[in-house]
Amino acid sequence: MERTFAMIKPDGVQRGLIGQIITRIERRGLRLEALKMIRLDKDTAAEHYKEHVGKGFYDSLLDYITSGPVVVMAIYGDSSVSMIRDIVGKTDPKKAAPGTIRADFGIDISRNIIHAADSPESAERELNVYFDGSEYQNYSKPDEKWLYP
Ligand SMILES: Nc1ncnc2c1ncn2[C@@H]1O[C@H](COP(=O)(O)OP(=O)(O)O)[C@@H](O)[C@H]1O
Ligand SMILES: [Mg+2]
Repeated sequence: MERTFAMIKPDGVQRGLIGQIITRIERRGLRLEALKMIRLDKDTAAEHYKEHVGKGFYDSLLDYITSGPVVVMAIYGDSSVSMIRDIVGKTDPKKAAPGTIRADFGIDISRNIIHAADSPESAERELNVYFDGSEYQNYSKPDEKWLYP
């Protein structure tokens, strides 16, 4: 069992996709532990995307991610890091597999709707950027006894 981090980016929020995205996470059996809508400032965006400093798309990425509200989430479950990456799909919506969020809702690599942590280490680092310990809800759902034998 592990916890991962995901963010519905400004285009996902503006295009009214919050509900459809969260539905895909919930129906898979993963459990939301924390959820909030925020607006990133440049410092937070830079901390989040620090691995991309110096790349050609970095400045436009920071403009994009700070351009409107985002929804940040902590998601818990068996193999949740790789499960969410699979639900999200490849970075470029044009190359993402049908059935993934980026393929089903997106066209352009610079407007790819959702972010998901790419490893347990990234998940922990990113969760600490957005949440403090008191923001996680510790609960279980009745269907979990059917999801996990
Ligand atoms: N070639 C590119 N042109 C424009 N934006 C890009 C490009 N590559 C990546 N990005 C943006 O930067 C984000 C972070 O890139 P990366 O970590 O490689 O992808 P992912 O979000 O799939 O982990 C992408 O989700 C996308 O918003
Ligand atoms: Mg990445």
